[in-house]
Amino acid sequence: MKLLIINGPNLNLLGLREPDIYGKSDYKALCRMIEDACKDIDFEIFQSNHEGAIVDKIQSAYGNFDGIVINPAAYTHTSVAILDALKAVGIPTVEVHISDINSREEFRKFSYVSLYAEKQIAGKGLKGYIEAIEYLKEKS
Ligand code: DQA
Repeated sequence: MKLLIINGPNLNLLGLREPDIYGKSDYKALCRMIEDACKDIDFEIFQSNHEGAIVDKIQSAYGNFDGIVINPAAYTHTSVAILDALKAVGIPTVEVHISDINSREEFRKFSYVSLYAEKQIAGKGLKGYIEAIEYLKEKS
């Protein structure tokens, strides 16, 4: 089993960025948690602030990964391109949000990626990534 974990824009600034919303742990701490949860499988962690780079990464996952965990960050609410890339490759996908997007501003309530993802996990902090990884591992 091989999992791809994708993080979108500004998630590299975890810890610094609005800690009251996203917590005080930094991106490295998130990567360490993911590495720990994936120690029995193959995996890759990818972060980009660029929509096209995320689309390229999803396309290159075809035939190479069995599952995707994605926090598209702000692109959640805007990116038809990321939705289309996920649909194109057809890889089982879980969407993760650190904060509860359903109880914040109106514009955060709609997620393009949720039109494809099997599951959305939101508002559980960094632990949401672990839940997503466990879900995909159990499925395989
Ligand atoms: C986020 C929620 C998004 O609305 C926001 O733009 C992010 C992070 C989250 O993890 O809670 O950058 O995806």
